[in-house]
Amino acid sequence: MKIAPSLLSCDFSRMGQELERMDKAGADWMHLDIMDGHFVPNITFGAPVIRCVRKYTDKPFDVHLMISEPLRYIDDFADAGADIITFHVESDSDIDKTIEKIKSRNIKAGLVIKPKTPAEAVFDYLDKIDLVLVMTVEPGFGGQSFMADMLPKVRAIKEECRRRGIDMPVEADGGIGAATIAQAAAAGVDVCVAGTAVFKADDAAKAIAELQSY
Ligand code: DX5
Ligand code: ZN
Repeated sequence: MKIAPSLLSCDFSRMGQELERMDKAGADWMHLDIMDGHFVPNITFGAPVIRCVRKYTDKPFDVHLMISEPLRYIDDFADAGADIITFHVESDSDIDKTIEKIKSRNIKAGLVIKPKTPAEAVFDYLDKIDLVLVMTVEPGFGGQSFMADMLPKVRAIKEECRRRGIDMPVEADGGIGAATIAQAAAAGVDVCVAGTAVFKADDAAKAIAELQSY
């Protein structure tokens, strides 16, 4: 299992050092949660911050856009150093245009679905994207409880990809830790985001290694 620590739970006054700490602790990807206070009821940070902290690690930056108009900002996040950009099917931007824009910048593109959105919402785009992110909490805040009832959606997406001969990684985000990751792994999740479970652990390297063992 690949683990992407969510910087949402980091000490933002030391974000660069927190990225270095996660890099040394063995993180696979760095998950950066972008919230605009409109698509979700919380505000985090934007492309200028990503540009400033880009130099602290060579690990892939997995940028999760929880914003109403992702298409307007793809160039900003591409310029800032994103390697993967995921955006929500529930956003207001045209999905095909946004995927094309991300791909035109040589960045991996992913679609995200909120808990109330069915797996089928991404089926029309499976040929065009590089990964699917299934939310296992309502987006907006770290530290919420894992919604195990989202896992049938992971299975459905994996099954549809198998049927169509597509090798598609599925990422899960929200409430994942030692107590819940086995269920995600069993459902076929390839990459798990973990905020609280990694940043609040006494030993981040140990926490990441344990999660990676699934
Ligand atoms: C929630 C974010 C998640 C969150 C995960 O909207 O997308 O990435 O930070 O945090 P934990 O692991 O604490 O649920
Ligand atoms: Zn996220």
